[in-house]
Amino acid sequence: NPIAPPDLSKCHLATAVDDSETSSKEVECCPPFSDSPVEFAVPSFSQLRLRRAAHLVDPDYISKFELAVKLMKDLPGDDPRNFYQQANVHCAYCNDAYDQVGVADSHENQLHIQVHACWLFLPWHRMYLYFYERILGKLIGDENFAIPFWNWDHPEGMQMPALYTKVKSPLYNPNRNPKHLPPTTLLLDYSGTDPDDADDPKHIRDNLALMHRQMITNAKTPEQFMGARFASGDTPNPGAGSLETSPHNNIHSWSGDPANAFSEDMGNFYSAGRDIMFYGLHANVDRMWDVWTKTLGNKDFTEDDYLNAAFFFYDEEKRLVKVKVSDVVDSEKMGYTYETRELPWRYTRP
Ligand code: C2O
Repeated sequence: NPIAPPDLSKCHLATAVDDSETSSKEVECCPPFSDSPVEFAVPSFSQLRLRRAAHLVDPDYISKFELAVKLMKDLPGDDPRNFYQQANVHCAYCNDAYDQVGVADSHENQLHIQVHACWLFLPWHRMYLYFYERILGKLIGDENFAIPFWNWDHPEGMQMPALYTKVKSPLYNPNRNPKHLPPTTLLLDYSGTDPDDADDPKHIRDNLALMHRQMITNAKTPEQFMGARFASGDTPNPGAGSLETSPHNNIHSWSGDPANAFSEDMGNFYSAGRDIMFYGLHANVDRMWDVWTKTLGNKDFTEDDYLNAAFFFYDEEKRLVKVKVSDVVDSEKMGYTYETRELPWRYTRP
């Protein structure tokens, strides 16, 4: 059977583990409780929302984005659309606040709902971004509003995008590695140590080679690319796909502040959603999924246990919505698409 949506009334404390897996702490991140979900439906639209590269957007767009994020931060703390409530959505699904529903003794046996390190990684994060984007759009009265993507697979995007690093901006977050502010080159294979020659162009070449490897060489099947199957009753974390392991995980740890005990914000699941840069990182993860299917011609999983896995989110109207993986397999049917960018890694041989 597929993973069923959580029982929100039984949400419990979540657990955050540090990078070296030597210490852990309990955190509270359960969403407000509601027991009357509606089924997911995409509102009708006349044009696709266009997600653009974060380093190419114009000042007007940045002002709109800043206003939307500020309004989201200003919502009452118990509004499920509030900025920190939204960060908690990630915490609850990713730091084991939910037990699997319909599985005997799931609590005692630690059979949690975990959307990382398995085939749910891509569809779950697509849902999460979808609602996030619609909430931002609603707050500024622009139903065509689209979040930007951090174009980290392209040499021009291989540093923290500047729009997130202006100190007075609502897009700023102080909990980032101070050594990795622009123009430091992002290392897609980052393992916790900074090279002495950080501005050597060879790092760009290494990044492109890594992208080629993780998008093509190591991504021949849905298991390899998307992650291992994970169904009801299974032990969490059966295995991450190539895109999740690296670049994705490495960008998280490269971004978070190592001076914080749990590498907050970006370096830990429980706090990652508090950094607006998270959504830029994940928009590009989501774009890479589109590229893998639409441009590179690969096929997703077709098993019912994949397509029928379901989750709850709050939408822009504060309604609790039940979404299934089958609802999100095609981004254009959800009303959005990505600006076309070159894929310089495509023909770069590792
Ligand atoms: Cu849910 Cu980038 O992690």
